[in-house]
Amino acid sequence: MKTVLITGGSSGIGYEITKHFAQNGYKILWASLLEDELQAAKKQLQESIPDADIDYLTIDLSKPDAAQNTFNWTQKNNWEVDVLINNAAFGTYGFANDISMEKEVSMIQLNVLNLFKMTRLFLKVMLAKNKGTIINISSNTSFQPVPKMSAYAATKSFVKHYSQSLTEELKALKSSVKVITVCPSAIKDTPFKHTAKMEKVKTFEGLVATTRAEVAKDVWNGFIKGKTLIISGAKLRRLNGLQGMLPHALVQFLLRRELEEGE
Ligand SMILES: NC(=O)c1ccc[n+]([C@@H]2O[C@H](COP(=O)([O-])OP(=O)(O)OC[C@H]3O[C@@H](n4cnc5c(N)ncnc54)[C@H](OP(=O)(O)O)[C@@H]3O)[C@@H](O)[C@H]2O)c1
Repeated sequence: MKTVLITGGSSGIGYEITKHFAQNGYKILWASLLEDELQAAKKQLQESIPDADIDYLTIDLSKPDAAQNTFNWTQKNNWEVDVLINNAAFGTYGFANDISMEKEVSMIQLNVLNLFKMTRLFLKVMLAKNKGTIINISSNTSFQPVPKMSAYAATKSFVKHYSQSLTEELKALKSSVKVITVCPSAIKDTPFKHTAKMEKVKTFEGLVATTRAEVAKDVWNGFIKGKTLIISGAKLRRLNGLQGMLPHALVQFLLRRELEEGE
C-alpha cells in the first residue's frame, strides 16, 4: 500500500486532495494543528470511504523542530512516505505596517521554513530510494508582487522558485523523484479567507476564483499525468498566459481592484 503524507490535510484543499488519494488506495498520514478537527475529519472521511486507513499527528508546524518531529513520527512507525504534500499554510492581509509582525514571522516559519525542512528531510530518503513525489502548494500570488498580501505572496514565491529549481535539479540528475509545484487561484470555499481575515475581499468571487474540489481534481490529475507545474483553475491558466504580455502597471491596477474589500 502506498502512503501519502499531507500537512494540513484535515481541512480545505488538503482534505479534498486526501479524498482522491484515499479513493485510490493510499494510506493517509495527516499532520495538522487542531486535534478536534483532525478527529472529526477522520470520522467524516471514513464515513464516505469506510476502508480509508488514516493516521494523524497533532503538531504546530510553525515551530522550529516540527519538520524533524514529523519526519521522526513516520520513521518510528516504519511508514515509507511515497508522496509528501506540503499544504499547511496561512495568509495575512492588509498594509504591512498594520499586521502583527509576530503573526507574519509565524507565517514565514510555517509557509517557508517548515516546507523547506520537510522537503529536505523527505527528499533525502526519496533520493536514496530513487522514488517518491513531493507536491508543494504555492499560489497564484507567487506570480507577481501582491500589495496587501506582501509577506504571504513572498512566502509563496519562495515555494514556487524553490520547488521549480528542485524539479530542474532532479531532471539533471535523471532521478525518478519528482517535485511538483501547485499554484491555485483564490479558493471560495476553504477556511483560508477567514483565517486571513479576507472574507470581504472581492477576489474570492472574482474572475479566476476556484473551488477546493476543482483544485483537488487538478492536483490529482496533474500528479497522475506526471506534471511538474499545476496551475489550478481553467480561468487562471488562461489569464496566466496573458499576464506575461501585459504591462506591470496594468497588472498591479487589476490586482488592487481584486484585493479591495466589497460591501
Ligand atoms: N484559499 C485560497 O484562496 C488559496 C489560494 C492559493 C493557495 N492556497 C494555499 O492552499 C493551501 C491550503 O489552504 P486552504 O485554502 O485549504 O486553507 P485551510 O483550510 O485554512 O488550510 C490550511 C491548513 O493548514 C493547517 N495549518 C495552519 N496552521 C498550521 C500550523 N501552525 N501547524 C499545522 N498545521 C497548520 C490547517 O490546520 P488546522 O485546520 O488544524 O488549523 C489547515 O488544515 C495553503 O498552502 C494555501 O496557502 C490557498
